[in-house]
Amino acid sequence: MLLIKNIGMLATAEGKAPLRGRDQHEGVRIIRDAAVLINGDTIQAVYENGEAPACDNVIDAKGSLVTAGLVDAHTHLIFGGWRQHEVPLKLRGAGYLEILQAGGGILNTLTATRKASEDELYGRAAKALDEMLDHGVTTVEAKSGYGLNVEDELKQLRVIRRLNTEGGFSVVPTFMAAHAVPPEFKGDPDGYIEFICTKILPKVADDELCEFVDVFCETGVFDVEQSRKMLTYAQAYGFKAKIHADEIDAIGGSVLAGEIGAVSAEHLIAVDDAGIASMARGGTTACLLPGTSLYLGKDFAPARKFIEAGVPVAVCTDFNPGSCPSDNLQLCMNLAYLRYRMTPEEVLSAVTLNAACAIGRGETVGSVEPGKQADLVIWDAPDLDYLVYRMGSNLASVVIRKGEIVK
Ligand code: NIG
Ligand code: FE
Repeated sequence: MLLIKNIGMLATAEGKAPLRGRDQHEGVRIIRDAAVLINGDTIQAVYENGEAPACDNVIDAKGSLVTAGLVDAHTHLIFGGWRQHEVPLKLRGAGYLEILQAGGGILNTLTATRKASEDELYGRAAKALDEMLDHGVTTVEAKSGYGLNVEDELKQLRVIRRLNTEGGFSVVPTFMAAHAVPPEFKGDPDGYIEFICTKILPKVADDELCEFVDVFCETGVFDVEQSRKMLTYAQAYGFKAKIHADEIDAIGGSVLAGEIGAVSAEHLIAVDDAGIASMARGGTTACLLPGTSLYLGKDFAPARKFIEAGVPVAVCTDFNPGSCPSDNLQLCMNLAYLRYRMTPEEVLSAVTLNAACAIGRGETVGSVEPGKQADLVIWDAPDLDYLVYRMGSNLASVVIRKGEIVK
């Protein structure tokens, strides 16, 4: 048994389903003078009003804020190389799609990722995951999508599997071969979608290498019909759907997300009312990525509109070597507070329970309640307002994952 005592403020979402509408704020419980008892890898009990049982193994939180371990529900964690050389091009005004069409961007990372060995990719990803853990992030989603052929997509997904089995991390795998059209299919996105469905997906399914399938539905990448084909194919295999939708143009990706019951749609900077309504009907979570808006100098997604429409909002990093070379979810919390104008409580649900539900982990993580996995963070902060107010510092002071003190 392990007891965390003297918790000044325990702030937690509650339940196993995403919080939406007013509940995204009101469903967060604030408990003063709390204590949490951990039994092995599971939360045994939560106490309030200064109550706590006797225990041999005690951590004194010294009046600080405690929350559930953070969940980053959207990363492109597995990649070779970095892309610092593209920044001057961007600063001179080249657009994201322009760089991609000139063979840079995702295609640049494609070359580096294909070249990298499985061990090299493993080492790089483990390093990033250690950094995330150090920042209080205990569960992470990771996408493939820089291999774009059978061999290298499977290589990326095998790295994710090894991060869990060998590294002890909690990483949820998403297959995203539909991230760009590879050179082998240049000018033939339909042919590539057919190739994914008939040649890569069956192998991913055979080896049980993913839980989610994602597609970049965007002008100049994959259109709505190509996205629909790929995702309905994937759903027939039993995989759950995600869509990079309406990042640059509202071409209908968010409408599609609601129609096919996608678990989440991502980015959504340019989303329109039809997309928001469709997502509300389909029960789709909006995974918003404020770090990417900041890094690309773009608008911030209309978080308040999603909340008003009853769409659950999650906030994630989008960690990748191009549009967001940062794995700091705390920074994204600060941006969500200031730029999305979400309340501190809404931000907390967005990076814990709603993020957990967006990657199929709502049953086990995302809140501090008896029966949930003992993933907790003691913050160098007195309360939730302070946690979202500070910018750029790492406020995670003690991090517990599956009942084990990892920081
Ligand atoms: O989510 N938008 C598409 N994909 C990534 C960027 C990946 C990259 O630039 O390497 C994103 O931002
Ligand atoms: Fe992304």
